[in-house]
Amino acid sequence: MSTIDDKAQSDSADAALEATATASSEIGEKEEENGAGGFIILFFIIGFFASLIIGWVIFPKLLYSKKIQPVTFNHALHLEHVADDCESCHFFREDGSYAGVPKNEQCIECHEDLQGVDPNEAFYVTEYLEKDREVPWLVYSRQPDCVFFSHAAHVKAAKMECEECHGPRKELTSLKPYYENRITGYSRDIWGKNISGIKRNTWDRMKMDDCAECHKREGFKVTSVQTGKDACFVCHK
Ligand code: HEC
Ligand code: HEC
Ligand code: HEC
Ligand code: HEC
Ligand code: HEC
Repeated sequence: MSTIDDKAQSDSADAALEATATASSEIGEKEEENGAGGFIILFFIIGFFASLIIGWVIFPKLLYSKKIQPVTFNHALHLEHVADDCESCHFFREDGSYAGVPKNEQCIECHEDLQGVDPNEAFYVTEYLEKDREVPWLVYSRQPDCVFFSHAAHVKAAKMECEECHGPRKELTSLKPYYENRITGYSRDIWGKNISGIKRNTWDRMKMDDCAECHKREGFKVTSVQTGKDACFVCHK
């Protein structure tokens, strides 16, 4: 009896030993797995930052081509010299349409004679004014051709400030580069500078949603066309 008991005891002791051995080897494996897990996390982090850099830095660089305005123009300086503030250059025509970016006609009065010694002025006068060529200004806010936009509705009827859509202009002493979307050919100002789409100012971008959002907020009384509140053809030609 006792021998059998002894055998059984030693068997169970062996089993216990074996169990500890497998347990410890499992622990060893676990530790190895943790090491591999660490690499996976590291690769994830590297991949994550790489895609952030591609998405935020490289992609916009590839997507947009940078163009420089043909002539530099100093808004702040000119506002000190004109009689009628913005309207000296940006005015409504008789028919209510907006003159937009000024033509030589608005400049010749002063620049027929050189006003100073600024090489930019001399460049403008000799290359454009004297040759009777209009400056091909790049318009940052230019919308696609299918969009209809009326300054009269916003500035005259709704009494909105230029700043709300264009940002501060009065203080500008030089012109920022113009970025053109290589795929669509549109100005970057439509989508906005911030690739993540966060909008801090009302003028950060002017996509379809931005127009529609304000129209909704304003309760948008459609006055000139008999249409639904947000019918496509309010804004589309
Ligand atoms: C002496 C003429 C002159 C006056 C005065 C003037 N501007 Fe301009 N403006 C220009 C010229 C030239 C351009 C084209 C170059 C540029 O983009 O700045 C321009 C462009 C602009 C644009 C850019 C549109 C776009 O999307 O590219 C805005 C907005 C603007 N002006 C607003 C104003 C406001 C607001 C005022 C008054 C505070 C003002 N301007 C006064 C001559 C003038
Ligand atoms: C009311 C008079 C007046 C009008 C209108 C006017 N300018 Fe000027 N412009 C000036 C004066 C003054 C200077 C400063 C000259 C200096 O001191 O060097 C100047 C300077 C400039 C310069 C050089 C400085 C700079 O802006 O980089 C350019 C370019 C220029 N004007 C372009 C234009 C264009 C384009 C228009 C029409 C959209 C225009 N100006 C309309 C008076 C005027
Ligand atoms: C509700 C927003 C809004 C307001 C307010 C506004 N604009 Fe604009 N502006 C635009 C949009 C959008 C465009 C582009 C229009 C297009 O491409 O047909 C534009 C275009 C322009 C242009 C370029 C036009 C061209 O095609 O040559 C000038 C200059 C300009 N705006 C000046 C002004 C001035 C000055 C004021 C204030 C009196 C003003 N804007 C108020 C939205 C606005
Ligand atoms: C910050 C507010 C605001 C933004 C941004 C805005 N709008 Fe408007 N828009 C108005 C208001 C207010 C009216 C109504 C004016 C009135 O009383 O007739 C209006 C009127 C219009 C009208 C005239 C409708 C009609 O038949 O009378 C058109 C077209 C229009 N907006 C197009 C646009 C487009 C396109 C954009 C974007 C590029 C835009 N708007 C951005 C506020 C805004
Ligand atoms: C409040 C003005 C507004 C209304 C209403 C509106 N759109 Fe737009 N839409 C825009 C503006 C501004 C753009 C250009 C900027 C952009 O791509 O977001 C645009 C762009 C588009 C484009 C892309 C065109 C291109 O060349 O990139 C399509 C497609 C479009 N709109 C369809 C529609 C349809 C369909 C409706 C009606 C359900 C509608 N829109 C109503 C303002 C408007």
